[in-house]
Amino acid sequence: MELKDIETRLHPYLFEVLEKEIKGLRPAQEKAIKSGLLEGKNLVVCTPTASGKTLIAEMAMLQAILNKKGRAVYIVPLKALASEKYNEFKSRYSKVKIALSIGDIDSSDTYLEKYDLIITVAEKMDSLIRHKADWIKYLHAVIIDEIHLLTDSSRGPTLEILITLLRRLLKKSQFIALSATIGNPEELAKWLDANLVTDNWRPVKLHKGVYYNGEVEFY
Ligand SMILES: Nc1ncnc2c1ncn2[C@@H]1O[C@H](COP(=O)(O)OP(=O)(O)OP(=O)(O)O)[C@@H](O)[C@H]1O
Ligand SMILES: [Mg+2]
Repeated sequence: MELKDIETRLHPYLFEVLEKEIKGLRPAQEKAIKSGLLEGKNLVVCTPTASGKTLIAEMAMLQAILNKKGRAVYIVPLKALASEKYNEFKSRYSKVKIALSIGDIDSSDTYLEKYDLIITVAEKMDSLIRHKADWIKYLHAVIIDEIHLLTDSSRGPTLEILITLLRRLLKKSQFIALSATIGNPEELAKWLDANLVTDNWRPVKLHKGVYYNGEVEFY
């Protein structure tokens, strides 16, 4: 599928930005579109590393913001990853008001109400909900990147509660969960009332081997 094929379904600004960077859509992206990405459906995207999951999230977020349906939040497990996404999105979408919120979890960060896209980590988002940040009700696209953190014995429960709270607060929002490594994607999709997108295409070939005595022996 070419980007041109979905031109009429994308906001003109989003198309203009993407056109400069990509031509064809990757298999995961094409499947996400066919699974209702542009119609506001919830999605669980479970595809290999570097298969292009971020762009799926970007389309959901930018469509929500540019079509004035509401704002967007991008939740990641690590502050370093949040900063990386912030820089990436800020340089790509210069017309959109983007904020990075990874600081003090004892603050409600009222300044965030001026932004359309907020990039944050799970614990900070949890704290913003508990501080009753008013702008949360305007969220229309909620992205949970690296959702396999759910199985982390120490931080997983926080994420699970966070997602549960967000789903209760935002009944009409679109939830998109991304991961390269989910063992039970069907179960997760059912929990999120989401369509499941899976695919095996990867840009870099995966080699399997055994590491022993300082050496890797490939099969
Ligand atoms: N349609 C496309 N055409 C060309 N390049 C693309 C396309 N979609 C994404 N890319 C590029 O592929 C790279 C990897 O994409 P991305 O970071 O979204 O991977 P990912 O699926 O999130 O992987 P991970 O599971 O490791 O986080 C990025 O540099 C991105 O710009
Ligand atoms: Mg990723």
